[in-house]
Amino acid sequence: MGHAEPEVATSLQPFWMPFSPNKEFKAEPRLFARAQGMYFYTPDGRAVIDASSGLFCVAAGHCRKEIAEAVYRQLQTLDFTAPFLRGQSKAFELAARIAEYTPAGLNRVFFVNSGSEAVDTAMKVALMLHRVRGQPQRQLFVSRERAYHGVNMGGVALAGMVNNRRAYGVGLGGVYHMRHTALPQNRFARGQPEAGADLADDLLRFCQLYGGENIAACFVEPVAGSYGCLPPPKGYLQRLRQICDEHGILLVFDEVITGWGRLGAPFAAQAFGVTPDLMTMAKAMTNGAQPMGAVVAQQAVYDAITEAGPKQGVEFFHGYTYSAHPAACAAGLAMMDIFRDERLFDRAAALAPYLADGLHSLADAPGVADVRSIGLMGAIEMAPAGSPGARGHELQKKLYDIGLNLKNTGDSLIVAPPLVAERQHIDEIVAKLREALAS
Ligand SMILES: Cc1ncc(COP(=O)(O)O)c(C=O)c1O
Repeated sequence: MGHAEPEVATSLQPFWMPFSPNKEFKAEPRLFARAQGMYFYTPDGRAVIDASSGLFCVAAGHCRKEIAEAVYRQLQTLDFTAPFLRGQSKAFELAARIAEYTPAGLNRVFFVNSGSEAVDTAMKVALMLHRVRGQPQRQLFVSRERAYHGVNMGGVALAGMVNNRRAYGVGLGGVYHMRHTALPQNRFARGQPEAGADLADDLLRFCQLYGGENIAACFVEPVAGSYGCLPPPKGYLQRLRQICDEHGILLVFDEVITGWGRLGAPFAAQAFGVTPDLMTMAKAMTNGAQPMGAVVAQQAVYDAITEAGPKQGVEFFHGYTYSAHPAACAAGLAMMDIFRDERLFDRAAALAPYLADGLHSLADAPGVADVRSIGLMGAIEMAPAGSPGARGHELQKKLYDIGLNLKNTGDSLIVAPPLVAERQHIDEIVAKLREALAS
């Protein structure tokens, strides 16, 4: 395999960048040319430590040869086959490997290409299941303030962050939002906060107000990730599970960030001991090297839908041209080997307290309003200065300039290093954060 020379973009204008201030970026671009292990490298060769695993993707560190070679081999063997009516072995193999890690019973895997597609797919599975079970009136969904469930229209309806909805979400009805769990008394909590389990009773209130028998599913991120690491209060997810069971509502965990080891267990479901009916995943399942996501369903969900279908004919009218793309499956299988051989979930669990110590040591830095952490992720929330989010935005630029890559959401700086990080990398991340905050 040849080693391509990094390219520097000659004209930045035609690429309409997602979720980015295009005008500002194109006036003062912050580019990466290559990456290896824990580091990105700028076009002029400067190392920038990756404190956010790209975007919660690169659990095994950048540019893993095993994954690159698996994809290369696959593209020379079977580059593409339609996932409708035709199959290829790696899709079946990968589904079986995934089911080794998901909680018992969750063992039917529907492949998609992103977290957003996983969320919209899960909404359809929920609607379809209730229809075949003779409850087609279950059309309402419940989610939560501060939630991020991707950017497709279903996910936007579930979204709990105003900028992601205000231009698009008005016409999408039938979704009710529980209150978020970021209570003032939980500030600076390490891990799960004590207060707020009772906020799960918002779901019960919706059952009482709209009729629990009309609600299809309740979607939550077990730890709200994109907003800035909001771990669930102790007992909160258990209470949601209980209310869902009492009212026949599906509980969906959106594990696009929390899945694949971020919390020191394969999934948040195991980390918190609560089993959902459906779970979504993406990002780290291929180490970010190929776009891929999945919905994993309880076998009973799959059985009900497939058995209700015609004897010959499609049971679930849904799918993507690139569902289970062979190259993505090859990347996923290589990643499953890495998870197993390098015991990445155990590594994340072992390093988590050290990361928490480092992040919480920044509590007294200038302007810090809150520090939250759980597993191998955390957030430093800054008190706003000027317009909301302005300080967070300036800080992420400053951090790039001094050699640290992370994502901010508003005034929260989100830290989620690759699971292969060592203590020295955490030290470097914390030192650079301290330097930036001091400025
Ligand atoms: C919980 C959650 N759901 C869905 C998504 C959307 O994933 P994607 O950007 O791959 O569409 C994200 C992305 O960060 C996410 O964090």
